[in-house]
Amino acid sequence: MRVRHFSAILFSGLTSTSPLACRQAATNTSAAPSAGATPGTSSGSGGVDMAAAILAIMPSSSSCSGAQFPDECRAAQQAAPFITKACADLSPGECAATVALMGLESVEMKAKHNISPGRPGQGTANMMMPNFVSQYATSLFGADKVAGKSPAEVLSMVTPDEHNFGSAAWFLATKCTADVRASLKTGTDAGWAAYNKDCIGVNGSLPERMAYWTRAKAAFNL
Ligand SMILES: *[C@@H]1O[C@H](CO)[C@@H](O)[C@H](O)[C@H]1NC(C)=O
Ligand SMILES: *[C@@H]1O[C@H](CO)[C@@H](O)[C@H](O)[C@H]1NC(C)=O
Repeated sequence: MRVRHFSAILFSGLTSTSPLACRQAATNTSAAPSAGATPGTSSGSGGVDMAAAILAIMPSSSSCSGAQFPDECRAAQQAAPFITKACADLSPGECAATVALMGLESVEMKAKHNISPGRPGQGTANMMMPNFVSQYATSLFGADKVAGKSPAEVLSMVTPDEHNFGSAAWFLATKCTADVRASLKTGTDAGWAAYNKDCIGVNGSLPERMAYWTRAKAAFNL
């Protein structure tokens, strides 16, 4: 319950009032899922062409040209190897869910830090709150490397690509129950709903969340 309580405000950084989110609205609704997947693989990214899958899930990720934060923006092609690695220990359903979440939370990989309200230390591809960023950094580097650093300094430890795109998988593996993971493994809307409600603490049925999941299911052949 404690995890769930904290999670309720976890990923609320980018709201519909943020400039980035507003600009994003057009692409949120214009996406056409594309078949980028090959069925039959039972683990990791499920045999999909990850760059094609990311692009199908995040239609604006074809390039970073004109990005507001060019240092932070990543195109599908750039992020694909890192997300493939992050998904290595997840089922395809779980991997698809993390990619959908990253798309929603990072405004399709345009930012690695929270823009609105601009909470210092909130960030990574799934826009984790500072307490989870700190736990993630500790898991990677050890408590002694994190101690005494400001939230923004801790965030900067985990925003290099190899860590930025691994945080959603870390959160899923660390914070989700076995029941939720089993449900997500089925690749169904029920799994997505459980992931959002029981791990993240939000309503996964909201249209803007479902839109990412619907594209993710198609891209991963779920
Ligand atoms: C698009 O995604 C952003 C980022 O999550 C969200 O705030 C916004 O409401 C979405 N827009 C639409 C039209 O679904
Ligand atoms: C979640 O969102 C859906 C779609 O907007 C809505 O029908 C449902 O009542 C919401 N569930 C909760 C628990 O608020």
